[in-house]
Formats: sequence, C-alpha cells, structure tokens
Amino acid sequence: MDDRRVPPGSQSSAPPSTPAGAIPTVAWRSASPDGLPGSLEFIDQTRLPQSSVLVRCDDAEAVRSAIQRLVVRGAPAIGVAGAYGLVVGTQGAAAQSAEQFAAVLKGVAERLRSSRPTAVNLAWAVDRCVAAVAGIAAPRDVVRRLLAEAVAIHAEDEAACAAMGRYGATLLREGGTYLTHCNTGRLAATGIGTAFGVFVTAKAMGLRPTVYVGEVRPLLQGARLTAFELRERGIDGFLMPDSAAGSLLRTGAIEAVFVGADRIAANGDSANKIGTYPLAELARANGVPFYVVAPTTTIDASIADGSSIPIESRGADEVRGIGGVRTAPDGFPVHNPAFDVTPAHLISGIVTERGIARAPYAQSLRQPPVSLR
Ligand code: MRU
Repeated sequence: MDDRRVPPGSQSSAPPSTPAGAIPTVAWRSASPDGLPGSLEFIDQTRLPQSSVLVRCDDAEAVRSAIQRLVVRGAPAIGVAGAYGLVVGTQGAAAQSAEQFAAVLKGVAERLRSSRPTAVNLAWAVDRCVAAVAGIAAPRDVVRRLLAEAVAIHAEDEAACAAMGRYGATLLREGGTYLTHCNTGRLAATGIGTAFGVFVTAKAMGLRPTVYVGEVRPLLQGARLTAFELRERGIDGFLMPDSAAGSLLRTGAIEAVFVGADRIAANGDSANKIGTYPLAELARANGVPFYVVAPTTTIDASIADGSSIPIESRGADEVRGIGGVRTAPDGFPVHNPAFDVTPAHLISGIVTERGIARAPYAQSLRQPPVSLR
C-alpha cells in the first residue's frame, strides 16, 4: 500500500467518534464493573433526523431485528453490533451445561450472521468471536471472552476509522468540494466513519471541505443521515436529488468522489449502496477521481471478484412509498437491490487503515500492514 505520511500535528486534533451529548451508534451498557450482564444500545437510525431515540436490545432476536430494520446499519457498525449481539444472546444461558450452551451459541451466531448478507463485516465479526471461544469449556468463561472480543472489535473499528481519516485526508486540498454517497459517518461505524471520516478529519485539520450528497432513495440515508452528520460536525454541504450527480460531476466542481464499501473482493471490485456504480462511471467519464474508503475487515479475500458478492434485495414497500405514504400503484412489481458493485478499474484508490491501496488491487490489498505513526 501507498504509505502516505500523515501531516504533522494532525493526530492531536483527532475528532471524537460521538459528538458531545449525542447518542452513540452502538454502546454496551452494564451496571456491573465486569460488564456482565449487559445490554446493547443503539441510536435508532430509522427515526433520524426527526428524533434521537435510544433502542435497547436484551436478546439476540432484538439485535437481529435492529440490524434487518436498519436501526443500526453501515458495514462496520453492524459488525460491532453482531459481536455484542453474541453476548446479549448467550449471557442468559451461562448457567446451562456446556453442551446446552454450545447449542445456544451456535444458534445465536447463525441468526446474527445471516441478518444481512452483503456487508462482510457482520459475518467476519461473528466468526471472529466464535473462533475466540473455541476450546473454552465453562459457559461463564465463554461469555466473558465473547464480551472481551466484542470490546476489542469495537475499539479496533474506532481506531481504523481514525487512521482511514488521516490517510484519506491526504487526498484532499484546502477548500475542496467533494461528492459522497449513502451514509458512511459515525452512524455507519463506531468511529468517525469511513469515507465521511475523511471529511471529519479534514475539517479538524482546517481544510474546510464542502460535501455534496444525494438523497439515496429508497431509504434516504443521504438525506436523513449524512445531512444530519454534516450539520452535527459543522461541515459545509449540499443535499441534492440522486439524479443531480451526473450534471454536477460534469461542471468540474467536484475534486473527487469518496464512498464506503460493504464488501471488497480480492480484485478490488467493491459493493456499496445502490447507486455507487453509476457514480463511479460518471466520475470516470468526467475525469474525477473515485475513492473507496473501508477498513480491511471489509475485504473478502475468499471472493475473487464482485460477481460473487451476495446482493441484498429488500422489500417492495421501500420503493412503493416514502415515510409510509404510497407513491406508486398498490402492488406494482418492484426491483429493490440494496447494493451494487463498482468494478475495480473505476476505482482510483482504496483507503484502508493500513494505507492507500492502488491498482492492481489483487496485489496491493494483500500487502502487509503499513505502520501509521
Ligand atoms: O443499507 P445500509 O444503509 O447499511 O448501507 C450502508 C452503505 O452502503 C455504506 O456506504 C457502507 O456500509 C459503507 S460505510 C461504513
């Protein structure tokens, strides 16, 4: 990876993952000093920006439902939620026999792992936690270890966001104007975010970025969440209809496009929110650099290229209406893929917490970590 050095002094002004007074994206709460028993809390992203409401999950099905309904969403955030979800789903079974407990853990892991298919971070986090307890016999010890692993994944995600922000900010210039897609901020990760974290870091460094974002139909993550976060962070920005991106890119006003990813194949093909691929084509057609920003937990080395990435198909009513108001004929057939795949040849660079990978990605994504100081 391209070991771009971080501008001196930029780390001392590291922005907080959660702005003061805001409800965190994911939080583990317990009255006990060792963290057990505990419950998992989310800010309910389905209610933003109208209301900031907290949701508490005390069993695995509640966590699964929160992930499926996009109460908690974004690839890194659902990975962290899945890891804590294993603790929520098994802590009540700690008094059972080792065999009974193992069956509970297996079932909970399967339910959480399958709650959303595209973001590999979820399956990765669940599998990492399950692997961490292999060989531990006593259920209480297993639950303790699951919590420790979830806490570690949470901390690593926050640190990865900060590092991606620092690497990504080296691609920005003072007063530049950028385009992003969907929501990749602190609501999509447990740190400052992936692509959005680049803007947060740049702002903290005094680079004064301006950020355009489309609404992102059908669930409006751009309008509801990214516009909310731009305001929360005091970053200048414009909300636009998704269909305005092409003409905007053609004006030459956009310096670069920064997006996140839900799964990156070994060759660099990257799945992200539906509408990312057309942005990449439009960026290429207009000579605008197109960057993917994602932690290495989003890389799925077992998949050779994007054609094997599972794409989630969501419910028809998300497209037939907005906010409960029907905007299409009752029962009209709907095509609603939640993600698309941007081919690697359209991607100018993949910013990870280890550095900026450049084509050919089959080699650069495999390279050992670059140290970030
Ligand atoms: O369906 P969502 O809202 O979970 O989709 C989120 C995205 O596509 C993000 O861009 C992606 O998770 C990467 S950013 C952390």
